[in-house]
Amino acid sequence: MKHFITLADLPNFKQTLDLAMDLKKNPTKSYGLGKDKTLGLLFFNPSLRTRLSTQKAAQNLGLPTMVMNFSQESWALEFEDGTKMSGLRSEHVKEAAAVVSQYCDMVAIRAFASLSDKEKDEAETVLRSFAKYASIPIINMESATAHPLQALADAITIEEFKPKYKPKVVLSWAPHPKALPHAVGNSFTQMMKHMDADFIIAHPEGYALNPIITEGIECITDQEKAIKGADFIYTKNWCSYDHYGQILKTDDQWMITPDKMELTNNGKFMHCLPIRRNIVATDGVLDSARSLVIQQSQNRIYSAQAVLKQLLENG
Ligand code: CP
Repeated sequence: MKHFITLADLPNFKQTLDLAMDLKKNPTKSYGLGKDKTLGLLFFNPSLRTRLSTQKAAQNLGLPTMVMNFSQESWALEFEDGTKMSGLRSEHVKEAAAVVSQYCDMVAIRAFASLSDKEKDEAETVLRSFAKYASIPIINMESATAHPLQALADAITIEEFKPKYKPKVVLSWAPHPKALPHAVGNSFTQMMKHMDADFIIAHPEGYALNPIITEGIECITDQEKAIKGADFIYTKNWCSYDHYGQILKTDDQWMITPDKMELTNNGKFMHCLPIRRNIVATDGVLDSARSLVIQQSQNRIYSAQAVLKQLLENG
């Protein structure tokens, strides 16, 4: 594995999942693997879980970290090639990526979608530019189109709580007042293709995810039908993909409520967090024993650790 930008970069998904679950049993068993190495963490957007869990994962491997809130603390970066830099952008990614490569042995980056330019978002300009101009591995801490560390943590959580060999898992769209990216829904869908599960996506009209990502997956617009008998409801908002970046529906008909949970097979509730209470799901769902949101956040440590360990072992 040269970089970890999507789940497809993993040499073997199932082995990585097993590794993450094994590391959870004994988190510091590979302490020392990170000796004399440094992990850089560059944030172009806010974070709670990703920042702390990735630092904790590195700590478990004895791997020192350097963290920078790039959007607030560093020079604004230029990503266009051949441009005359007469505007507000003071440093080109060519130099920035090369400089970071002098200080770090790996660099993890968070850079969300703009939701205004589909072509640029899908080109993953920030991560792909760093991958091009850095000489060290790049790790995705949520990019414009993918959040693979979250999806791997969610896979751990499903493995831990599944009531049967092949559970029914529903990815359900939920309302949200802000336009949100597709990264979590995309990576969750890609991850579910590796799992032994009956997987279905429910979303209102106009909210289909990228059809390349959902190819082969049943997608319906009847949420109630989708969640009947489900063992897990994974809820997430995303904006329209076809009408890129737009919010087409804001009403609360798609919010997850205790009544909807009653339609499931004693199902569990999942969400990557942060979550807006009584918008995406009610207090009654989030405060119930069916909610796995805190367990998911704990598993972010081991998903990051499994990826870092493999990159360190690559040398
Ligand atoms: N789920 C997740 O990535 O959380 P943060 O945005 O807080 O890192």
